[in-house]
Amino acid sequence: MDGQKISNLENLKKELTGHIHTKWAGQPIYVYESIDSTNAEAARLSAEGAEHGAVIVADTQTAGRGRRGRRWESPAGDNLYCSLLLRPKERTIVPNQAPMLTLVMAVAVAKALQRMMPEQISGTTPVIKWPNDIVLDNKKVCGILTEMRLKGTEIDHVIIGTGINVREREFPQELCAKATSLEAVLGQKISRGELLGEILEEFEALYSEFVQAGDLSRLLTIYNDLLINKDREVTVLDPLGEYFGIARGITGTGELVVELPDGSHREVFAGEVSVRGIYGYV
Ligand code: BTN
Repeated sequence: MDGQKISNLENLKKELTGHIHTKWAGQPIYVYESIDSTNAEAARLSAEGAEHGAVIVADTQTAGRGRRGRRWESPAGDNLYCSLLLRPKERTIVPNQAPMLTLVMAVAVAKALQRMMPEQISGTTPVIKWPNDIVLDNKKVCGILTEMRLKGTEIDHVIIGTGINVREREFPQELCAKATSLEAVLGQKISRGELLGEILEEFEALYSEFVQAGDLSRLLTIYNDLLINKDREVTVLDPLGEYFGIARGITGTGELVVELPDGSHREVFAGEVSVRGIYGYV
């Protein structure tokens, strides 16, 4: 490794790790200039014995992964790409609870952003598009991908990968209409390290509530208050047939409750379908 590369990595480490004040989330942090995917690296480190709470963060990803097998574009210098490794001991959480952690992280990100970008200054506030996109100014600024590995019937690890568009200005053509970045909306600089610190602090507190309850019941009010779809018309893109309704909030296990035109209610599972606002992305 030449001198220039070392100092780039050292600077990156300073930038990204200088604001961590948590007990376990982000202890330790592994920083990379470039990696295929922070989620993939978290899985490799887990196999080598990395601990509950380890965070992997990179300046760029060469094979960033999105939901539903999509790519997550990950240019250098602009954004935050991080993965949190959870290795819950002694069935603290069981496999069917793991998908709910994506929603816990969505709340953590939205709350962290609210703290860093007060609405009076930014003129807008971050919200959640069910189940776990963070939306600012009606466009997506953050995506979350949770992946799990089992050991027998127990969880070996859960990896929560979060990608936040911090200062990206130009998006690929197909994303322009629905993606934006924090700085594009705010018009001022955001520190990636501070953002990471705030997210981990929020997550640590919310995770404890989640583990105690065993589901999202203690986080329902906070999640539903952040939910942009709440009391709005949505199209449910169900492979078995699209339908319309009004989103009423989530259940304690994270399904979206949709009120149908005949007044009945359906619970929508995130794994199977996505929702759109009737006029577009939200
Ligand atoms: C989505 O499709 O909305 C989820 C995107 C998740 C992207 C993040 S970036 C950090 C982590 N590493 C990955 O490869 N993906 C996640």
